[in-house]
Amino acid sequence: MSEPDVPNTGPRKVCVIGWPVEHSRSPTIHNTWLERHGLDGAYTKLAVKPEELLDTLRYLPNLGFRGANVTVPHKEAAFEALQPYVDAPAERLQAVNTIYSHPDTGEIRGTNTDGIGFWTHLIQSVPGFTGKTAVVLGAGGAARAVVDALETEGRMKVRLVNRTVARAASMVSDIDAKATVYGWDQVSAALEGADLLVNTTTLGMEGQAPLTVDLSPLPDDAVVYDIVYVPLETPLLTQARAQGLKTVDGLGMLLWQAAPGFTKWFGVDVSAADVAAARTLIEADLSTKEKS
Ligand code: ATR
Repeated sequence: MSEPDVPNTGPRKVCVIGWPVEHSRSPTIHNTWLERHGLDGAYTKLAVKPEELLDTLRYLPNLGFRGANVTVPHKEAAFEALQPYVDAPAERLQAVNTIYSHPDTGEIRGTNTDGIGFWTHLIQSVPGFTGKTAVVLGAGGAARAVVDALETEGRMKVRLVNRTVARAASMVSDIDAKATVYGWDQVSAALEGADLLVNTTTLGMEGQAPLTVDLSPLPDDAVVYDIVYVPLETPLLTQARAQGLKTVDGLGMLLWQAAPGFTKWFGVDVSAADVAAARTLIEADLSTKEKS
């Protein structure tokens, strides 16, 4: 893709590009932060079909956007399109979720903030977390960012458990991870002595079967983190809490992955209070939907 110029004047318009994109909570997050910081900007949704992605990325600046988030199903295609203007996390995950312009040159850039969002939420939720061994359930797109963050940010040893072992093995090789792969029937062995369990599968999500795992092999001080956030309290988290384990829900990962993009587009750091304010709005929305 040739490199378009990004405008540096006028109201700062940013969008989230997805297909479908209607469900996206990103506008709530960024518009809340824009308002809290009194910034002249707007964050909207852009429904883009896969066959329209390249043109959309090429003409983003002409459409008045100075940046974007990229969501399902476009993250990998956006990475291909933006090469070589991507940074190390995007390169490792072969996926882009945030597009911005370089502050000095105005050149368009792609990054991936999913992993740092996952890790920041863990550290915010469990201050002083120093776990050494993590078990990750699932080997889909979300698992890539989680495993990468655990290894690069947390320097943790990862045990990757997936129903389809071959998929987990190819994920490990794709992202150049060191994780050890386990089959679904070996989950108890994987949990033995682990400091952290992370669910990245779709199990437990609204409309999906619950995740049923025997958590008894986990040590008493282990943390259970479910990246599913609809519902906010998944059956896995309820089960972990009942067993006296610390729990971390999935909404914070979504909020904290948004923070680096906001800073790049609008030049303002996102505080824990900003995250809490956006969280309150999304929680209210989720609980209204649950009741209706
Ligand atoms: P995402 O991109 O959101 O991570 P995905 O790519 O569809 O979603 O991955 C879903 C994950 O949930 C996969 O690890 C999948 O396991 P397989 O790789 O074996 O398909 C896992 N998953 C989905 N349904 C499952 C089930 N019933 N039992 C076990 N794992 C399941």
